[in-house]
Amino acid sequence: MTRLTVVGAGYVGLVTVACMAELGHDVVAMDIDASKIGLLRDGGVPIYEPGLAESIAANRERIEFTTDPAYAYKSGNFVFVCVDTPPMPSGDADLSRIWQAIDNIPADEGTHVLIVKSTVPVGTGALVRAELAQRGHRHIRYASNPEFLREGTALEDFMHADRVVVGADDPGIAEQVAQLYQGIESPVLLTDVASAEMIKYACNAFLATKISFINEIANVCEATGADVTVVARGMGMDKRIGPHFLQAGIGYGGSCFPKDVSALKQIAGNSGYHFQLLNAVIEVNELQKRRVIGKLKRHLGDQLRGKRIALLGLSFKPNTDDIRQASSIILASRLLAEGAEVRGYDPLAMESMRTILPAMTYVPSATAALEGADACVLVTEWSEFLELDWALAKESMARPIVIDGRNALDAAALVDMGFVYDGVGTRVKLE
Ligand SMILES: NC(=O)c1ccc[n+]([C@@H]2O[C@H](COP(=O)([O-])OP(=O)(O)OC[C@H]3O[C@@H](n4cnc5c(N)ncnc54)[C@H](O)[C@@H]3O)[C@@H](O)[C@H]2O)c1
Repeated sequence: MTRLTVVGAGYVGLVTVACMAELGHDVVAMDIDASKIGLLRDGGVPIYEPGLAESIAANRERIEFTTDPAYAYKSGNFVFVCVDTPPMPSGDADLSRIWQAIDNIPADEGTHVLIVKSTVPVGTGALVRAELAQRGHRHIRYASNPEFLREGTALEDFMHADRVVVGADDPGIAEQVAQLYQGIESPVLLTDVASAEMIKYACNAFLATKISFINEIANVCEATGADVTVVARGMGMDKRIGPHFLQAGIGYGGSCFPKDVSALKQIAGNSGYHFQLLNAVIEVNELQKRRVIGKLKRHLGDQLRGKRIALLGLSFKPNTDDIRQASSIILASRLLAEGAEVRGYDPLAMESMRTILPAMTYVPSATAALEGADACVLVTEWSEFLELDWALAKESMARPIVIDGRNALDAAALVDMGFVYDGVGTRVKLE
């Protein structure tokens, strides 16, 4: 088996480390964050991802953790770059970590293949190769290997990927990179670097478009009396459309969709093309997060000042502690701006949320969040909220109003219990 290096021990990096070790490779994981590496060396895992801690522990003898870039680069013939590429204020992707990773490549070492897994704008591979050549690293080969995993099901997505995409201008290199995935029974698409880079953006932009589309349908359903859950089911039964990403809700968030849609818009704009559709996708998503405020006012009156609102779920989706671009951030901020008392609870995301929104009241359980609440908003559909004893919860709430931001609760059961239930694009069900 091969010895690999993974640069960046975040969500994508650690999943790559665990899965590549699972496939039998020896892996050296490098991160500039000494506290993360310290924790990993001590047997901890700095993020929550189902099965990740167990997989790292099970493959521990094939995994090394280091903060030393020179050691890391010298260790592996194949170097996966998994550093973050966050959005800049302009919407462009910030590639500073990619360049920092390149800066750290030692001058002298033998041939290796630099495989960029991070999501980078189309054309980045060409720029990196030009830079490597200028620095005298002509022996380093380059491949793009975009990652499609979803947080919450990341290991499963990696080991059973719908496809593995490898872009390299030398087909022999693409083939070598694809070989690293041997043991995973997924179709492999070998292509050029620019097309591989574009595939990642096109996928995320398309999925975000699907979400904004169904959210707009939901809003029209609310105005016309149709029910979006049935509409989506009917649409999804059409094989040309498919059922996925047709769940109406209070907008997409996370570390990928918002930044990748903005980055693709900028990539197009920077090349002289106006990608009109993406403007609408972004705007619909921003407005969707705020529509909850209108709904709360419809039920509680225009004055939200002093009203106690329970937010159930803060992470951008269930089974992750990631709050990057979570709908909860906009929603909680808007409610605080209206003068409401916002009580938030999440099974995993409390600590990170507290650092960016200290004005929210953080409570230790869903039950505590609902106590005395004038209304509750289901923001993230964690299973513990779906399984909650809602009859008991109703007794402790000041008013039995549930805004189901994910259409995940049992509306009929809640109405039977005497709740006012208001979903996204479903008919408001009164007591
Ligand atoms: N998170 C996802 O669900 C997901 C899915 C697919 C693709 N991606 C893409 O993968 C990339 C990584 O995303 P993530 O969510 O894992 O990010 P992350 O922020 O969780 O992790 C990035 C890690 O890289 C480290 N790092 C930064 N600069 C470094 C350097 N020069 N050397 C070594 N380590 C360095 C950071 O300390 C951090 O631990 C991004 O481009 C993202 O768009 C993410």
